[in-house]
Order: sequence, then C-alpha cells, then structure tokens
Amino acid sequence: MTEEWSRKIATNTIPGPKSKEILKRKVDCVPDGISIAHEIIADKAYGPYIKDVDGNIFIDFAGGIAVINAGHSNPKILDAMKRQVDRFTHTQAYKVPYEKYIELAEKIISISPIKGENKKCYFANSGAEAVENAIRVARHHKNAPRIIRFTNSFHGRTSLTMGLTANSTYKKGAFPEDSYVDIAPFPDPNEFPGTERECIEYSIDYLEYLVETECSPEETAAVIIEPVQGEGGYLEAPQKFMNHLRDVCDRHEIALITDEVQSGVGRTGKFWASEHYDVEPDIITFGKSIANGLPLSGIVGRKKILDSVHPGGIGGTYGGNPVACSAALATIDEINENLDHAQMMGQLMRDHLERLKKRFDLIDELRGIGPMIGIVLRDQEGEALPDATEEVIDRSREKGLLLLKSGIKGNVIRICGPILMTTSEIIEEAMSILEEALEKVST
Ligand SMILES: Cc1ncc(COP(=O)(O)O)c(C=O)c1O
Repeated sequence: MTEEWSRKIATNTIPGPKSKEILKRKVDCVPDGISIAHEIIADKAYGPYIKDVDGNIFIDFAGGIAVINAGHSNPKILDAMKRQVDRFTHTQAYKVPYEKYIELAEKIISISPIKGENKKCYFANSGAEAVENAIRVARHHKNAPRIIRFTNSFHGRTSLTMGLTANSTYKKGAFPEDSYVDIAPFPDPNEFPGTERECIEYSIDYLEYLVETECSPEETAAVIIEPVQGEGGYLEAPQKFMNHLRDVCDRHEIALITDEVQSGVGRTGKFWASEHYDVEPDIITFGKSIANGLPLSGIVGRKKILDSVHPGGIGGTYGGNPVACSAALATIDEINENLDHAQMMGQLMRDHLERLKKRFDLIDELRGIGPMIGIVLRDQEGEALPDATEEVIDRSREKGLLLLKSGIKGNVIRICGPILMTTSEIIEEAMSILEEALEKVST
C-alpha cells in the first residue's frame, strides 16, 4: 500500500468544496427519493479506503453496502476483469454462450453448502432479481403460489421483493406485490417480552400455525429467510430456529431459500452464511460482493427445482455478464483463500466493540456473525436511539470513517466494509474514531 493510502482529512468541512459543488448539481437532476448516506463524492478507492474529490481519504466500513468484501480495486480481481474486457464484454449468455459463465456456475456449485451432486446455478444482475428468480423456480416446481417471509426482512426493491420486505420506508406508496405472501416472526429476543428460549419457541409455534392454517402447505412454494438479516440490523437466526425451519419445509415439501445476498461471500467469516448452521437450504440467493463491485447475482439450488422451468422460462439480457463472471471467479478465490484473515479481522473488531459496549451505556447489543457486525443503540428503557445512531455515523465521517446504519428503527450501526486488504492497524484506527464519536454523543 503506498503512502497515498492512509486516512486523511484535508478540508475544513465535510463535504469539501468540490464535493459540495457536484452534490448541488445532483439536486436538479436526480430524484429526491435517491437519498445519500455520505455527502462526499468518490474519486478513487483502494483496499479499505475511499478518496473523495477534495483529497479526503476515508476508511470505508460501508463497502458500497457489503459489496466490496475483497477490498476496493483488489489487484487480482481487477486483473481478471481487465483480461476479459480486452476479449469481449457481451454476447448474451444464452444467445452466444461463453466459458466463464459455465466455469462460474461450476465453481459456485462446487463450493455451495447444499450437499449432493444434483445442483444447478444461474445468474442475474441484482439481489432483487436473484430473489425473484428463486421464487420463480420454487413456485414453478411446486405449482404453488404462496411464500412465507419473516418480520424485519429485506429482499429487494422490485414489486415482488418489496412485498417480501418489512420496512415501510422502502414500501410506502409503492403498493408492492404481496397477495401470496405470509409473514412469520423472525426471532428477536431483544424485542420479545420473555426469555430467549420463549422467543424462539414463539417463532417456531407461529410458523407451524401459519403453515398448517392460514397458508395451507400444498399452496406454499417456499420460505425465504436471511440467515443473518441485513437491512433488518444484522440480526442472526438462532440455530434451533433454523433446524426447525428445515424440518417444517421437509414435512410440507416447501423449498427453503436462504437469501445470502448481504450475508454471503465471506461477510460472516465463512463463504456462505448458511455454513454457520447445521441446515442445508434448497436454494441460495447471492449478489452484492460476489463480483466485488460489478453487478452480478444469481441462485444456486437443487437441480429438480431449477430444472423444473421450461427452456426460455427464465433468463435476462445481462445476467452473467462475462466481465462480471471473470471478476466473480477471482473474487471467490480471493475470499476463500483469506477466510482466516476475515475471521481474525471480525474477532478484532468484536473485541474492541465488547470493550466499547462496557464503556458506553447506549450500546445495548452487538449482533451478527464474524465480521458482519451490528451495533445496536438503545436508551436505558430499551428504546431505539435512531438520532444518536445518525450522530455517531456523522461524527465518524468527520474524522474519516464511513459507517452505515440499518435496522427497521434506524438504530443499528452496521460494519460491512472490506474484510480483505485491511490490517489490524486500520481496524484499531477505525475503532478509536468510533470510540471518540460515541464519547461525544454520550455526553
Ligand atoms: C438480503 C438481501 N436480499 C436482497 C437484496 C437486494 O439486492 P439489490 O439491491 O442488489 O437488488 C438486498 C440488498 O440490500 C439484501 O440485503
């Protein structure tokens, strides 16, 4: 890493003058619905850093919303992309196929936690599209319409995936497609008036009730769950609950879809989030970091489900773009070769955060698995603290650390930046910025 790439605050205010100027232009040409988390304009990025047009360099714990797990401008991934760009950039994967698509499907199948020989895989562009495709094949396979999703979930912004999403901020006024969607409670012990065990049992009982009464098993094609909820605030599903979910799906021949768009690709310290559970899904959706910044997503799942759709029944113009496939092949190698490092970075952050949790009353809970970490801010009465969350994030940015919030109540700081190309020194630097911000907000 060259001298140029270390945290630096070069302007008196953030945003600096050049960023401000460009942001002013945004107001006139981009809809207000596209809201900005960090009012800076990116110029370059490398490893865990983003440099803005004013010369400020930030430690990036936002990672383009969990998309840059292998680090910005990762040289091996860039090299793979460049080699493909020099050959061709598009032929359409089903009109004139190319080997990179097949190679990537084979690779994802080979590393998938779904056991057995009979698996298939195909590609789309966004996480929402991956979820749409997972639902498409599950419905087709069972010839049944209903889907069960969980409270606090997020599965995308298309009409169907918004219908599978909990947060009303995303859905307000959009009238999402949810006529065949049933909702079961995701176990959240901190929001439950009882013990953790009672919370899990309640969620299990409710799910059983839902399947057997309201939605009817023969009309239910799939249950979709994020093993670690992303936008919902990095809340992890308990093992016992996942076991039970598998059991319900088996008993009623319902496809279990794990949506790993945010929690996959090393985010939790293993390649797939479902590897932390003693449970095999039938379909996994992936996206975000799979090509470390190029738009690629897809599904991997049981052959009998994916093959149930007739030729021409699934597809799309750009899905499995060759440059994105090349990037994904390199990303998978990079992540898999460095999972130990990812776990170490996660543990280091957790150690620091445990200390901060003892020091600051407003940190009520630490969530997630491995380096996928949610820091939950609540007051002494257990009420969510969205304003304090915002303020911690703002103060951190002023000192050169980019963070994101999540959680349906906006009171979770999530850590979802690069987990490769980062060092313990950078983590320590980031943690001391966070500590300073918490100190200011606490007083
Ligand atoms: C779990 C999950 N599924 C699906 C999506 C939708 O992905 P995209 O924004 O790429 O459509 C997201 C995005 O945050 C996600 O976190």
